[in-house]
Amino acid sequence: MSEETVHKGLDGVVVDETRLSTIDGERGELTIGGFPLAELAENARFEETLFLLYEDRLPTSDELEAFSDDLRERRALAPTTRDVVVAAGENRQPAMDALRMGIASASLARDGDEDPEADARLAVAQLPTIVATYWRARQGEEPLEPRDDLSHAGNYLFMLTGEEPTGADVRGLETYLNTVIDHGFNASTFTSRAIASTESDVISAVTGGVGALKGPLHGGAPGPVLDMLEETHEADDIEAVLAAKLDSGERLMGFGHRVYRVRDPRAAVLSSAAETFYRAEDGGDESFFESARETEETAQELLAERKPDLSLAANVEFYTAVLLNGVGIPRDLFSATFAVSRVGGWTAHCLEQLSDNRIVRPRSRYVGERGREWTPLEER
Ligand code: ACO
Repeated sequence: MSEETVHKGLDGVVVDETRLSTIDGERGELTIGGFPLAELAENARFEETLFLLYEDRLPTSDELEAFSDDLRERRALAPTTRDVVVAAGENRQPAMDALRMGIASASLARDGDEDPEADARLAVAQLPTIVATYWRARQGEEPLEPRDDLSHAGNYLFMLTGEEPTGADVRGLETYLNTVIDHGFNASTFTSRAIASTESDVISAVTGGVGALKGPLHGGAPGPVLDMLEETHEADDIEAVLAAKLDSGERLMGFGHRVYRVRDPRAAVLSSAAETFYRAEDGGDESFFESARETEETAQELLAERKPDLSLAANVEFYTAVLLNGVGIPRDLFSATFAVSRVGGWTAHCLEQLSDNRIVRPRSRYVGERGREWTPLEER
């Protein structure tokens, strides 16, 4: 085994089959549940996309209503979960930590025994309530109870702000939630599948997914992207700002991808959805959107000069920051809002894994010492 090739970061390794989504990294295409991304992102309600992942077909209107009702009934947190999440908010813990603490205890809200499908729906339904409860506590405001007359996306916005969400905000958020719901065997999805493959429970798998998504190389990038965009918006010379970051060894957040060799197709969908929130005639900050576009172009040129062998283009996180900022989601909740969507993918992958399971167990090449002789403590 010691002669085996090491696939660092599992790069290029195909570990299983999936019907949930596929990526063409050369052409920049993403297919979710058989639909080209743009088709789904623009038309579907989040609940429809979720049903599609779980059932491999679109729901009828009766099925959609029943499915949406089922999710609504699972939105309320168990009192202990609420207490933990409120404490995380009052202590100003990072949102992803609050989410991890909250979802880990979500099994307290089960309405029966452990069951993968019920747990999947429970996790999807609880995440927005956890994030909103945390956020209101962190702002020193009373957390709100979920409303059962609003859609999944609408209720999330309501619980964050206490205000009736506008149709445009709900649509903008749904476009985002549909766009990032699934994306092949990314790190957090693979983490969830690996946990599910041990026949552990789906809540544990989602808790692991949250932990993996938190990192800045995965889902933690859009907050820093917005910081960068604010910096370039204020600056006279965008190129100088970006070049200084690269000179100091920083990575430009929102650029580069393990699979895509061209611009991430999700960036296009999110960019056009975001643009509507920055129109000057509707009171938006058009100059911010223009500056973001210019930042993307300039960064891409600089990265092409410095890394001519790699195609480092905008990834999903770049326009996530622009869109979520437009919808009014606070930057500290960008990664947690990513989780509010991606939990759909994590749970669908858990169910898929369990339907034809084999425990995930890769191997490693040992490079440590062998045959060491024990030295007693007093002789070291
Ligand atoms: N800015 C500057 N240089 C970069 C960037 C970047 N954004 N991305 C990659 N590079 C460089 C690296 O420094 C490295 O150069 P080197 O070979 O001279 O050391 C080379 O490109 C290859 O980088 P890797 O980290 O090996 O590429 P990998 O495929 O492992 O990483 C990743 C992909 C993590 C997305 C990377 O491009 C990155 O760190 N981007 C910035 C963070 C980011 O935007 N994260 C969100 C990703 S999208 C998502 O997960 C939802």
